[in-house]
Amino acid sequence: MTGGVGYIGSHIAVALVEHGYTPVLLDNLSRSDDSIPDRINELCGFNVPLYKTDCRDRDGLRKLLDAEGGVDGVIHLAAYKSVGESVKIPLTYFDNNISAMTALLDIMVSERLNNLVFSSSCTVYGVPDHREVTEKTPFGNAFSPYGFTKQACERLMADVARSEPWMRQVSLRYFNPIGAHPSGKLGELPGGVPDNLIPYVTQTAAGQRDHITIFGSDYDTPDGTCVRDYVHVCDVAEAHVRALNYVSESDIALDTFNIGTGRGHSVKEIIDIFRRVNKTEVRSEEGPRRPGDVDAIYANVDKASATLGWTSKYTVEEALKHAWEWQKSL
Ligand code: UFG
Repeated sequence: MTGGVGYIGSHIAVALVEHGYTPVLLDNLSRSDDSIPDRINELCGFNVPLYKTDCRDRDGLRKLLDAEGGVDGVIHLAAYKSVGESVKIPLTYFDNNISAMTALLDIMVSERLNNLVFSSSCTVYGVPDHREVTEKTPFGNAFSPYGFTKQACERLMADVARSEPWMRQVSLRYFNPIGAHPSGKLGELPGGVPDNLIPYVTQTAAGQRDHITIFGSDYDTPDGTCVRDYVHVCDVAEAHVRALNYVSESDIALDTFNIGTGRGHSVKEIIDIFRRVNKTEVRSEEGPRRPGDVDAIYANVDKASATLGWTSKYTVEEALKHAWEWQKSL
């Protein structure tokens, strides 16, 4: 698994072990906390192999394969993921995210490795015509370089699916992964000021930030704030295990699944639920819209349910409780 030490990758590592897989992690550790590998090992009950390698480094990828004697499948998460940062340093995003996918596919093709599960995003839909999106909803105009890199990676997969008919690939389009491992031992550790809603809320509740600014309260939504589909990170992790099973057994060359709960929550609702379930104050203020935000988007998850047998299990209340327990443990 590339990007195996990140927020989502670390939870997938634990889920893989729970399902009897033996993960091998690759990560350049450029955006991860030093404590995470030990935390993964503790939850997995053994030292999970970790290669400190950049995914763009083809020799490094080959070394991993030689040392491990090959792998049965690949989960590819290694990428930068900040929408705002990608606008400031687009070339870094193109290089890191698209070159990593190119290098990985190159090695998979040359070594005839099969079964790829790719970490994509609902950002590929851009500003959709309908708020509930299915996998058939067309790609929208990518409003950030980050979004463009996810579209480009999916395009690379589609082209390789045509040139290499033996290959099996699945793309998982996550909506908004949130929460933390119920043990309180794994979670999100954003460096610096968080871009995303939940880490900002938890840091505000912890007193590290004075208040959270609600980006826009005049959207065409029931309470005027943006609506998103927030899905527990452990549910997202479980979806990868299902996708890996599916891609290994299926005859379909390339498939795509939305990974969300199928329900939207507004920013105000999320902050209110956080306050209620955690019995803690979070100061909030209404501010201007953040450029590039879509007013409302949530997943139609019928396909993941029908094909992967996957639906989210955790409620948003549980996810927000786990996020707070994780924040308090830091
Ligand atoms: N928000 C605030 N205040 C904050 C932070 C966020 O009001 O301080 C709002 C945003 O405006 C948005 C909502 O909270 O309405 C969620 O914002 P996030 O930044 O947490 O998430 P996004 O929906 O913008 O982005 C997420 C992922 C991206 C991905 C995108 C679409 O973080 O990686 O979904 O797929 F590209």
